[in-house]
Amino acid sequence: MSAIISVKDLTKTYDSGFSALKSVSLDINEGEVFALLGPNGAGKTTLISTVCGLVRPTSGSITIGGHNAIKDFRAARQLVGLVPQEMPTSPFEPVLNTVQFTRGLFGLPPKPELIESILKDLTLWDKRDNQIMSLSGGMKRRLLVAKALSHEPKVLFLDEPTAGVDVELRHDMWRLVGQLKDKGVTIILTTHYIEEAEEMADRVGVINKGEIILVEEKAELMRKLGRKELTLILHEKMEAVPDALSAFDLVLGPDGKTLTYTYDTQSERTGITTLLTELSNTGIRFHDLQTKQSSLEDIFVDLVKG
Ligand SMILES: Nc1ncnc2c1ncn2[C@@H]1O[C@H](COP(=O)(O)OP(=O)(O)OP(=O)(O)O)[C@@H](O)[C@H]1O
Ligand SMILES: [Mg+2]
Repeated sequence: MSAIISVKDLTKTYDSGFSALKSVSLDINEGEVFALLGPNGAGKTTLISTVCGLVRPTSGSITIGGHNAIKDFRAARQLVGLVPQEMPTSPFEPVLNTVQFTRGLFGLPPKPELIESILKDLTLWDKRDNQIMSLSGGMKRRLLVAKALSHEPKVLFLDEPTAGVDVELRHDMWRLVGQLKDKGVTIILTTHYIEEAEEMADRVGVINKGEIILVEEKAELMRKLGRKELTLILHEKMEAVPDALSAFDLVLGPDGKTLTYTYDTQSERTGITTLLTELSNTGIRFHDLQTKQSSLEDIFVDLVKG
């Protein structure tokens, strides 16, 4: 797969002296859905804004579809649609005009049937003559998506597309991303809803304090870092894990009534059978058990803490 976006040694130090990006290098493959995760203030919006030409980098290089994003800004920007995190305000403008106007900004001829289908896909067609200020918060977010799609970009950046959007619309947004991907659009999204990355992304990148700390295929990430936990609900309260069981690294719950065993689902031997035999030999009885697969969320929290 070839890279449609290539970021090399990108740094951004704001005028305040704050260093928001510290030598970030990242390639985005054509046609993939890439989820960029990171805590508040990690540098996600700064990275996206720099790639889209809204923020000037301090150093480093960016190419989009082979065009240098700084020297050849127009050609690079033409390929990119951006759904920003913040709502820019032109409150009195009607919905349809705004979307048509945005397409015009890219020097493209009008294409009413395209704009109509975009607005219909985003369930905004009925609101086409409404002023922006009369839209609900979720509708405004969808309008940002409509604007970003108006010039048929090859790459779409979505900076927290579903923040403040209800569950049903969030699922609509996921479907839309799927449809765009099927059409060959490359998608880069940031989100705080990790299930969203789990649902949509082909690859996941984690940024923390201005540094990319991990980039990995989502499936591979879940396989490598995914763990499974077996929790036994004990019959009787336990003060400490008996020495006979020390090899299993069991964790005794704070109330002394649960024992948790962590194992690797990928390995040939999970150790569960031996554990259960040992428990029985030691005379420890339990009356229930649960297993839990670690989610992308657990993995993310571990990474950012570490
Ligand atoms: N214009 C600016 N001037 C100075 N510092 C800024 C500016 N914009 C952002 N920052 C700082 O850069 C850091 C990264 O901000 P950024 O908006 O990129 O984070 P983010 O990962 O998008 O966070 P969030 O999840 O909250 O959207 C923050 O510490 C922020 O305060
Ligand atoms: Mg942000």
